[in-house]
Amino acid sequence: AGGTEGRPRSAGRGPPPPISFSFLPPRFFTAPLSPKVRLSREGAVAGYGMLAAEELEAGEVVVSVPRSVLLSQHTSPIRALLQDAQESLQSQSGWVPLLLALLYEYTASNSQWQPYFSLWQDFRSLDHPMFWPEEERTRLLQGTGIPEAVDKDLANIHLEYSSIILPFMESHPNIFDPKLHTLELYKQLVAFVMAYSFQEPLEEEDEDEKGPNPPMMVPVADILNHVANHNANLEYAPQCLRMVTTQPIGKGQEIFNTYGQMANWQLLHMYGFAEPYPGNTNDTADIQMVTVRKAALQRAKSEAQQQLVSEQWDFLCQLEMVGEEGAFVLGWDEVLTEEELSMTLKVLCMSEEEFKEYKEQDGWEDDSEEEENSTLSNEALSKLKTPCKKLLYDSVLLTLESYGSDLKAEQDLLNNKEAYEKLSRREQQALHVRYGQKRILHQLLELVR
Ligand SMILES: *[C@@H]1O[C@H](CO)[C@@H](O)[C@H](O)[C@H]1NC(C)=O
Ligand SMILES: *[C@@H]1O[C@H](CO)[C@@H](O)[C@H](O)[C@H]1NC(C)=O
Repeated sequence: AGGTEGRPRSAGRGPPPPISFSFLPPRFFTAPLSPKVRLSREGAVAGYGMLAAEELEAGEVVVSVPRSVLLSQHTSPIRALLQDAQESLQSQSGWVPLLLALLYEYTASNSQWQPYFSLWQDFRSLDHPMFWPEEERTRLLQGTGIPEAVDKDLANIHLEYSSIILPFMESHPNIFDPKLHTLELYKQLVAFVMAYSFQEPLEEEDEDEKGPNPPMMVPVADILNHVANHNANLEYAPQCLRMVTTQPIGKGQEIFNTYGQMANWQLLHMYGFAEPYPGNTNDTADIQMVTVRKAALQRAKSEAQQQLVSEQWDFLCQLEMVGEEGAFVLGWDEVLTEEELSMTLKVLCMSEEEFKEYKEQDGWEDDSEEEENSTLSNEALSKLKTPCKKLLYDSVLLTLESYGSDLKAEQDLLNNKEAYEKLSRREQQALHVRYGQKRILHQLLELVR
């Protein structure tokens, strides 16, 4: 599941071991896996998967995983150590305690989770873009947002390893050895957590106080693959975690979990795969906010107009509608950052007088007239005023220029089965990401043409 789709199967290391769940307590075998499902390597979209051996109705429990077999910072034998050090293990990701537990369990021959790890065959199937050579990442993913996200991850991984993990290991030499628990292994475990961990949702009242729950590994539940149009999801009960069907599922069909509403770029970045068009109904494309500023500056004919655009941009920054690093996010049916985009277009399309007046009234009278609707459905987009449409149109064109190839080239490749099959797995996944984004951008071009 997750990112297991695959390193080439010809990795030449012999057949994978049979699926074994011997790490689970005997109780586990008496009920938890529904007799109506089977785990399989064959017939699943990626690596392992869960298939319906019989017809299933909505609301059936296909597997229930007791909390005692979860692997987390709270279940590892080194949990007390991690608990005592929790102050010094705080990090931006919040993953450090789990990663230390994983470093420990993965290399402890007596760990009760050894059979669990052996299922993942030394993480050979992890092929996140962060493991691709930089040249390949740039060549295949330029414009998608993934190279920038990977650069941030890598910097963060190095920083957390050197500033938190290493000092912790050095102060516990009886348990950790940097020669064994290397940065390389740490990186693989980060990818493993990205692709296979679960995060228990918080009760609403806890959300603000504690921040999100730390991730944890959920054996067996993590075998299910993801699609946007999924047919099962995980429910959290006090004693166990249950995978429950959300739709009727026919015999022989794969049972799909959801990892969340994910765009293809997020799927490839976090899980190592993308959903081919038109499967991913949750796909999105970004327009960098600074690209809209650039488009506005391009249109400004005089210095005074350029100055106006700069002032308008600063005004939008103060309102926290835009920022240098931000992006407007477009879905298939609507703009997901509608408030930001509609405000940005409105302000950037104002004349000097309109802008002056608007600033003076501080946007107070905003809620009158047509402004009520900040929802930017596709229909609303097509009804934008002409200058706004033009600005958006130019911004989309600039965004499309940031890719190394055009939509037509991707389309041809997807339509040519023979050529497509000759592509490497990485090239195929990257193609799905680029194609979905460009389709969304082109759809917008048509709407505001
Ligand atoms: C995500 O996909 C699901 C399944 O197709 C759909 O029901 C949902 O509305 C989509 N969400 C968004 C924001 O597009
Ligand atoms: C707001 O948008 C919705 C959906 O597009 C539409 O039905 C409604 O009439 C709009 N309201 C106004 C005041 O424009």
